[in-house]
Amino acid sequence: MSATFDDLENLTVQFVERARAATNSGEIALVETELRSKSGPFAALQRSVGQLNPEERGPAGAALQAARASVEAAISESRERVSVIERAQQLDADRLVLGDVPMGGTFPATVGHVSAVARTQDELEDVFVAMGFTVADGPEIETDWYNFEALNIPPAHPARGMWDTLYLEVGEPETVLLRTHTSPVQVRLMQDAVASGTLPIHAVMPGRCFRRDTPDARHLMAFHQIEGLVIDRGITFADLAGVIDAFTKAYFGPDMSSRLRPAFFPFTEPSAEFEITCAICRGAGCRTCSHTGWIELGGCGMVDPAVLAAVGINPEEYSGFAFGFGIDRCAQMRHQIPDMRALIDNDDRFLRQF
Ligand code: DAH
Repeated sequence: MSATFDDLENLTVQFVERARAATNSGEIALVETELRSKSGPFAALQRSVGQLNPEERGPAGAALQAARASVEAAISESRERVSVIERAQQLDADRLVLGDVPMGGTFPATVGHVSAVARTQDELEDVFVAMGFTVADGPEIETDWYNFEALNIPPAHPARGMWDTLYLEVGEPETVLLRTHTSPVQVRLMQDAVASGTLPIHAVMPGRCFRRDTPDARHLMAFHQIEGLVIDRGITFADLAGVIDAFTKAYFGPDMSSRLRPAFFPFTEPSAEFEITCAICRGAGCRTCSHTGWIELGGCGMVDPAVLAAVGINPEEYSGFAFGFGIDRCAQMRHQIPDMRALIDNDDRFLRQF
């Protein structure tokens, strides 16, 4: 096509319209190629600029540049529009329909089942309910106040080092974290009982807890605990020891022993660690129990008067005990699982055994 400067406006309109009318990227590419082609009309005009009178060259060059720019703009607008359409067409074409996928196969279809941990939790609840406890629960996302402060662990207290905490939000208006134990549910239960005038309390509280910990044979980062709380008049340490022992025999079997060893927890005084015979080696010593013959299940003690006072219970009138231990650890002992990580590994050969 040979064009003159008189045609420039028509030429431009023509190119812009072709770009706008394009319905696919191929058509757009064609317009673009012609616009840039050395043998195209725009290149021809460019060459003819040199033959114009010197005073005409400037304005002609500028007009040509403006014309090209408006065609380029129409091309890029069109490209955006067409790419949306083409993407939708592509997605449509890629859709799988019944019949595209071969349905046969000879694999055995297996039915899922309740996990060993969930089953253990149910069994533990049954044992405690049979002993007269009710079952309660509380949130996994807690405030610093419930997880620590109300449990007699003020900010920056060194005892906080006992729990490697995963914080969600630090500071104003409140520090929020993933609960490191089920003990905050004690606080909520006591508050509720005070508010509704329903003391005494005999309850267990199962639930998931989280710690910034390296998993090993006996620890997971997300694990389960069950908390126990009894608040009544005249409760003593002997009641605590009796409940722990009755639980151990009822759940693990009459041949299993429990023992309490002095320990420290900020929310109980006195405090104890609660251990049972290692069910993997029956007390002989193995890797799971670090060759001690005993497995620590959790902690317990008499509820510290400061904790009672923090929720408005008169420590002169009421006393109580609390305990908390690992549900996963119970599942491990009950089913003699040497490495607790197997519970969350999703190895079907392992899981199928339960
Ligand atoms: N919350 C403690 C922990 O996770 C365990 C514990 C200790 C719970 C003593 C209690 C208790 O209720 O009295 O390490």
